[in-house]
Amino acid sequence: MSICFDESRGTVHLTNGRISYVMQLLDGRYLLHRYFGPALRRWRGTGVPQPAKRSYTTEYGDTHLYFDALPWEFPVAGRGDYRRPAFSVTGPSGTPVSELLFQGWRVLDKKPGSDTLPVTFAAPGESETLAVDCVDAVSGAALTLYYTIFADADVIARRQRVTNPGTRPLCLTSLQSVSLQLPAGSYDLLTLYGCHAREAQQSRAPLHQGVQAVGSRYGSSSPRHQPFWAVLDPAATETAGSVYSCMLVYSGNFNAVVEQDAFGAVRAQMGLGDESFTWTLAPGETFETPEALLTYSGQGFNGMSHSFHTVLRRHMLPPRWQGVPRPVLLNSWEGMYYDVSLEKIETQARLAKELGMELFVLDDGWFRKGNDSRSSMGDWTCNTAKLPGGIEAAADLVHGLGLKFGLWFEPEAVSRESDLYRAHPDWILQVPGLDPREGRHEYLLDLSRAEVRRYLLDVLHRYLGTGKIDYIKWDMNRPLTDAASAALPAHRQGEVPHRYVLGLYEILREITQSYPQVLFEGCSSGGARLDAGMLAYFAQNWTSDNTDARDRTDIQAGFSLLYPPEVLGAHVSITPNHQTGRTTPLETRFAVARLFNLGYELDLTRCTPEERAAIAAQVATAKAQRNWLMQGTFWRHPVTRPGDRMTSVVSADQSCCLAVIFRTLYDPLGEQAAFQFCGLDPAREYRDAATGEIYGGDELMEAGLTLPPCKQDFAAHSVLLCAEEETEYGHSTADQ
Ligand code: GLA
Repeated sequence: MSICFDESRGTVHLTNGRISYVMQLLDGRYLLHRYFGPALRRWRGTGVPQPAKRSYTTEYGDTHLYFDALPWEFPVAGRGDYRRPAFSVTGPSGTPVSELLFQGWRVLDKKPGSDTLPVTFAAPGESETLAVDCVDAVSGAALTLYYTIFADADVIARRQRVTNPGTRPLCLTSLQSVSLQLPAGSYDLLTLYGCHAREAQQSRAPLHQGVQAVGSRYGSSSPRHQPFWAVLDPAATETAGSVYSCMLVYSGNFNAVVEQDAFGAVRAQMGLGDESFTWTLAPGETFETPEALLTYSGQGFNGMSHSFHTVLRRHMLPPRWQGVPRPVLLNSWEGMYYDVSLEKIETQARLAKELGMELFVLDDGWFRKGNDSRSSMGDWTCNTAKLPGGIEAAADLVHGLGLKFGLWFEPEAVSRESDLYRAHPDWILQVPGLDPREGRHEYLLDLSRAEVRRYLLDVLHRYLGTGKIDYIKWDMNRPLTDAASAALPAHRQGEVPHRYVLGLYEILREITQSYPQVLFEGCSSGGARLDAGMLAYFAQNWTSDNTDARDRTDIQAGFSLLYPPEVLGAHVSITPNHQTGRTTPLETRFAVARLFNLGYELDLTRCTPEERAAIAAQVATAKAQRNWLMQGTFWRHPVTRPGDRMTSVVSADQSCCLAVIFRTLYDPLGEQAAFQFCGLDPAREYRDAATGEIYGGDELMEAGLTLPPCKQDFAAHSVLLCAEEETEYGHSTADQ
């Protein structure tokens, strides 16, 4: 890992031996992007930044360089570059035109943290950070660009800070976290889109001239699009080809924008949604952007995922939960919905314990006046008609049965029918004179207000302070509307959506730091706010309300592009499935969940004794394998037949592999397909635990394995491979 300057050429080169990132100064004034990709030993500056003459545009002095075609590292508006800017600020002159001038660059002693936003962290020696100082000659704003390169992950973390060193306020209208220039070429664009119960679907299409963008106006990162783009070689697959990609560490409105210019070059950006964003920067104040994680893979999407998984596992997840197995849980939602009672809790928790589960989660319903979503949100007082003795009694009951106890909250919402709303009608997001929109019969609390945050923190401390709660499911079930705050002046209303997210992060920071032993699971109507920002607080996340095994194969594959499997909640539920009405075998439902964060969400009294015995065996298997599974390498495998999906986890030492092959429909013609493994040691011998057969790692990866015949739709086949110390010829593999 190094950050090398070449003063004579005006370049800086960041590398970790696997990837390189190079910038170069133009006349000591302007910062240009020169390279991002596989590691280079040294950057000598071959080639010019702009290969062809661009007549009739805006030239740079007497050179053959043109502003509109230069690969700007951090582009601004109004000075001859007509592509999308990354920075827009208005100072006393009133013009949004900027002239961003390089001032200096320096290597920092350690990676800078943030008091307000979740950012990656790294111990000394695990990363190096470059800071590039610039000034906007028009507004006077001082801008610092940060680049962190990691030793153990092929990721460059990027973020910016802008300060107002002047005496009059500045108005910031856009500041992106990343702007990346890619050379002219043919590319595909991959994004993830979706909706409730159908999150993280993959959209891949050829990039074309013009702007292609996804984003969120939900106020949260939303189920509509992940804060992510990948720009790739059109021939790239799961296992091969160049992929440039970026995810944003942020849980609110965002822009993910890719622009291909008339000459084929690409500018790809990611950052805060700037559509209605404004931020007043008073003299002396600083604004910081969310962090973005940029990665290059030469090994297709799996290479990209491995870099994202590594950086999130080691440099983002709460340290207390890194590499720590999560308990197998039973969640009450699909089994009880709102109609909870101590009797039901006792019956379900007792059965869960018998089957080997470790945590009982009491979902929604415990505080509601009725059995629907119309009331009580915000009051957070247990309905003792449902649960005599309150939450403490429920927790004692569950603990007494030998399970941990978890509780559902939706702290950000408030019902119209609640004491909290009646007492503080001004505490919600609302525009004066308009009826605020309801979502799932809820309003949203104005988290930009300190007194609202204090109220929520007091509620949470009241529950967590008892020491009887081992787990919290933190839900959020509606998007932002009427994003205006009674506590902010008119000229600051454009700050409300971002201030909401900052307020949320402040609460999460305090509460997760106060109770590090408590496991927090994030949820937002399923996976509507599953993003890297949330992973700083939530070691696991509910992936989707859709628990149907077939649909889950798509949803989990989509999210697995970005997030490691142990943070993605996957529950075995009842059939016919409550969301899709589909019936799939119990074995399939388990197989589809078992590589992820396994749980159960069903009424165990409705299972037959045989099903309960099968569940007990599943839980025992999962507990035996979870230590290596949750630290292993996750693979999505290319398959030849549409409707088939193969995923696997290979242990860090390559001694074990668990693969799950899901086949949507039985197809006699497709029966002979061979499934190729990934990430095994080609020189080792692996025993198939089910058949006892021994195969070479090379054979499993190159020729693949065929499956035993199975005349069944929605069949899932699990293959566990364990490395043999000795080969079938009796030689130890180390001797060969
Ligand atoms: C959301 C969540 C569910 C459940 C319900 C409770 O829909 O995604 O898992 O917690 O809320 O109201």
